[in-house]
Amino acid sequence: MYKYVDRYIINGKNRLKGEIKIDGAKNAVLPILAATIINKSESLIHNVPGIKDVDILCGILDSLGCKCHFQNDVLIVDSSAISNVDIPEKSVREMRSSIVLMGAILTRYGQVKISYPGGCEIGPRPIDLHLMGLKKLGAKINETHGYIICECDKLKGTEIHLDYPSVGATENIMLAAVNAEGVTIIQNAAREPEILDLQDFLNKMGARITGGGSSTIKIEGVKRLNAVEHTIIPDRIVAGTIMSAAAVTGGDVVLNDVVVSHLKPIIAKFADSGCIINKYDNKVHFKANRRIKAIDIIKTLPHPGFPTDMQAQMMAAMVTAKGTSIFSETIFESRYKHAEELIKMGANIKIEGRTAIVRGVKTLTGAEVCARDLRGGAALTVAGLAAEGTTIVDNVDVHIDRGYDKLEEKLNNLGADIERGKV
Ligand code: EPZ
Repeated sequence: MYKYVDRYIINGKNRLKGEIKIDGAKNAVLPILAATIINKSESLIHNVPGIKDVDILCGILDSLGCKCHFQNDVLIVDSSAISNVDIPEKSVREMRSSIVLMGAILTRYGQVKISYPGGCEIGPRPIDLHLMGLKKLGAKINETHGYIICECDKLKGTEIHLDYPSVGATENIMLAAVNAEGVTIIQNAAREPEILDLQDFLNKMGARITGGGSSTIKIEGVKRLNAVEHTIIPDRIVAGTIMSAAAVTGGDVVLNDVVVSHLKPIIAKFADSGCIINKYDNKVHFKANRRIKAIDIIKTLPHPGFPTDMQAQMMAAMVTAKGTSIFSETIFESRYKHAEELIKMGANIKIEGRTAIVRGVKTLTGAEVCARDLRGGAALTVAGLAAEGTTIVDNVDVHIDRGYDKLEEKLNNLGADIERGKV
């Protein structure tokens, strides 16, 4: 039926029980890897997740002349000898978030060439706010034949107002402003926790940035940057995904090494559905009754609103809940591809543009389904844990491995029955 290479074969209905350590955050480590370009020195990074996107970005850094290697569990990046400013077109196609390299290379070299990152599975991914910010800092931008070429003599600090609190644009502007002359203020900046982690990393390197995590970020340009050592924050979306898996199986799971404050919007929704959640310093004890309640409205918003990266996994939790839930995906244009796959498993979902109406059904039945994007693939895996019989999720290597480090092993350690097969 599907041409797939790696797939999950999931036998559902096992209750998840036990403890799990949450890995470092994909969306924190990627901009931090871009930032390693700037200090012309070594960066030692702890708690790096073993995911495909990290491998891809390390490959790009190596192609620019950096040296990336793991020593025990620490990722060491040496950026002293970068020789190339062209980001390979294939890599940008493979991972659009490599766009965040622009600001870092521009800071280091005063020029950068990158192909247009184009859209992806979840919709068009414009970069107008990125380019507006770099232009305001003094970069000359030439867009030709699908490439963007940025050049500048010296970047000069200025005030930049983002029409939309774009995560990537906020990060690119921060990276470009680190060595700029004078002060840069970003207004209506993204407030995601990963932005604050990038600020912490850059400040350890010698940058002078304040306001990360708030809507106004101030970057005072500095001349020199030094070697740095840093530990990546835990991945709040991986934590939320594990909560979804516990919620659909009536599970009882302790999530260790989390930052509880990063999980607030996710915990609030699961609490509304009747899950019992106890929060401690750096862990969460999550328990669910056999069948959770539907949640009236789940609307995705920029942080501290409910994260779009949890929409699919929350839908997987709601398809067997008692009652009807209404989703509103306000961030991305086509982030409901998992819905038609969930319907194959017996879910009752109606999609109207950016709205999804989910009427809870008593049980799902196992089926052969296809991961179409990273979080949709995670959602189908969660649904497979709840379903009667066997569910096959394909494209695990293409999508799920990009943002989850051995998800099947983690879930099996909690009592799931998932086999990873190759065809
Ligand atoms: C980051 O993507 C994350 N990726 C995404 O996670 C996440 O979904 C997204 O932020 C929102 O939280 C990484 O951090 C690597 P945006 P990014 O710029 O930076 C519009 C995952 O599953 N926009 O905040 O690309 C855009 O169209 C991934 O881990 C412009 O209009 O997100 C979208 O509607 C998926 N112009 C909205 O902003 C621009 O120049 C959010 O985009 C840039 C963005």
